[in-house]
Amino acid sequence: MLNKKVKSIILAAGKGTRMKSDLPKVLHSIFNKPILGYIIDAANNTGFVDESFVIVGHEAEKVKEFVSGYCSSAKCVLQSPQLGTGDAVNKAAPYLKDFDGYVIILNGDIPLITAETLKKFVAAHTEANADLTAMSAIFDNPFGLGRIARDKDGKFIAIVEEKDTTEEQKAIKEINAGVYCLNWRTVAPAFNNLQNNNAQGEYYLTDIVKWAVENKLNVQSYILENNEEIFGINSKIQLAEAAKFLNKRTVVRLMEEGVQIVDPDTTFISPETTIGSDTLILPNVYITGKNIIGKHCKIGPFAHIRDGAQIGNNVRIGNFVEIKKSVIKDNTNVSHLSYIGDSELGSKVNIGAGTITANYNPISKVKSKTIIKDGANTGSNSVLVAPVTINEMASVAAGSIITKDVEAYSLAITRSPMKVISDWVRLQIKKLSGGNK
Ligand code: UD1
Ligand code: CA
Repeated sequence: MLNKKVKSIILAAGKGTRMKSDLPKVLHSIFNKPILGYIIDAANNTGFVDESFVIVGHEAEKVKEFVSGYCSSAKCVLQSPQLGTGDAVNKAAPYLKDFDGYVIILNGDIPLITAETLKKFVAAHTEANADLTAMSAIFDNPFGLGRIARDKDGKFIAIVEEKDTTEEQKAIKEINAGVYCLNWRTVAPAFNNLQNNNAQGEYYLTDIVKWAVENKLNVQSYILENNEEIFGINSKIQLAEAAKFLNKRTVVRLMEEGVQIVDPDTTFISPETTIGSDTLILPNVYITGKNIIGKHCKIGPFAHIRDGAQIGNNVRIGNFVEIKKSVIKDNTNVSHLSYIGDSELGSKVNIGAGTITANYNPISKVKSKTIIKDGANTGSNSVLVAPVTINEMASVAAGSIITKDVEAYSLAITRSPMKVISDWVRLQIKKLSGGNK
């Protein structure tokens, strides 16, 4: 157990010019969750970060709106203008005046960082009794990143930004990951001593290393095991790559837990989805948000589960089926071409092909619930206009539009009676050919 208080500072004030977007970089999403959300989660999931400061600047209002809705222990602090990463951290300093614990600093654009790594990182900092620990990684192509400079004895003495490197330093492959742990009391004075006399005219956070070395503090580096974790997002190409990495992590974990995934390359599953063993996921399935899926289910091919699904055991979600915010109990089938939204389906329900729960009123913007109880079934191409309940064992005839509750064990049918006009086709043919005679 850590006997220090830990707070985090997340740097998210930059514009992200290379995203070429109206949206600030940190609000771009992977599986419908902004990348900033992943970083806040990593900090929170360590279990020891009790408060986070998110430094906002570019499109600050939008970022603030997201953060305030997402996490109650995160506070936004405005940095305007954006004078560099060191200046960004300094904006949080007034809130940490008498703080005597650790501060973890994280760049806001590294959604693949994990709580596990942050825990090991802070443990290493504690073990070394360090004042400052910077996370580093070995990159074959370090271009563009800050380099870890060491003296002839291998002691970590500074971080040098790409634009400030000498020819010799350009060859260094150990880079600065942009994740730091500070003993706030001893390192905080560094932020009043930063200078901007560098190639970019910015106040660099990285200069605190040199300051700490000069002030005889204990400065350490921590080499990352898995470089993927600090994969930074600067463009939409990198956003797609990060999503792939994240997805791979999830599908591998699920397969290790006993889920059968036929084609991991075309299966996309959000990290917050849990799936029971022996469930079979067929190709081209897309699952976003937080969902619980049971054992022995069969999902896909081409199924879309959109968030808030609680699916029991032995459930079938077939092709071209979309599920949103719905509870589906054991042994129920939704096999083809259906939309189930804001619904509760009991067990042994059978949903016919093309059944739609009409949950949304576009005029009032109200969403309503559909309840389908145990053993009930719907015929193909039926529309259930919510709010509506189909009781136990009831049956909805194919092609029906259901606007009122259906009693248990009864049949609801809204179809107009079928009419057969004998010889109608013959008559048409005769009419056509007759005209030509
Ligand atoms: C930074 C590091 C570099 C490291 C790299 C890792 C510095 C000076 N350099 O470089 O050593 O290898 O990260 O990815 O820190 N930000 C603000 N306010 C500002 C400027 C930036 O909040 O005034 C935020 C950005 O939104 C971003 C983060 O800080 O989330 C990093 O800024 P960025 O400009 O991307 O730094 P790099 O040049 O990548
Ligand atoms: Ca920069």
